[in-house]
Amino acid sequence: MLSSMARCLRATSVRGVRNLHGSPAVCSDSLFVHRDSPENNVDTPFEFTAENLKRAHAIMSIYPDGHKKAAVIPLLDLAQRQVGNWLPISAMHAVAKLLNMPRMRVYEVATFYTMFMRNPVGKYHVQVCTTTPCWLRGSDDVMKAIQDKLGIKVGETTADGLFTLSEVECLGACVNAPMVQINDNYYEDLEVADTVGILEALAAGQEPKAGPYNGRYASEPKNGLTSLTGPPPGPGFMVRDDL
Ligand code: FES
Repeated sequence: MLSSMARCLRATSVRGVRNLHGSPAVCSDSLFVHRDSPENNVDTPFEFTAENLKRAHAIMSIYPDGHKKAAVIPLLDLAQRQVGNWLPISAMHAVAKLLNMPRMRVYEVATFYTMFMRNPVGKYHVQVCTTTPCWLRGSDDVMKAIQDKLGIKVGETTADGLFTLSEVECLGACVNAPMVQINDNYYEDLEVADTVGILEALAAGQEPKAGPYNGRYASEPKNGLTSLTGPPPGPGFMVRDDL
């Protein structure tokens, strides 16, 4: 019987076949393990700014007494935004202290959700969805275009520190596949040329428009409505005259 690593290596060696066992998360321990580095260790300076501390308390006030720990995700997100798109272990400790919860409980959350980056990333974190709907709609081409344009592979950062590239699972915008997330924005219905244009605009310090790139406003049918084409009948439409 093949070990999981052997299966992983064998799967990734088959050209043109994407196999779930070939995803970087399975081939690597980067999602689950913390290893001290010069920039990320328990002594890495982190303290919420006065403004963010105020925000943190406002977030915590939403939750009732005895359930403040439920604020752990928004507080980790706040810490990540303060640091600049990534979350040092010292920031996790600050959140644990604020919420009075064991550090291990915070580690569990920070390692479970891929939105938390536990190592430094570039100014623009490019996350390419390669789950089935995006894959069927050309995410392989989008991924290749990004790699060719930036000269990096998945998990790497460009030498100028501008871009980090990640491969991610479904980001919930399948109806606008293929798509990529860059920082807080979704770029959808992408062709290769659109993707390259977005990267060029970001590199030039511009703000490319977010959303669909095929002329759609949102996720409506590309060729017009096929159902619900009349005006909404209003709340009384179910009332029958004969009752
Ligand atoms: S499969 Fe790509 S957003 Fe859902």
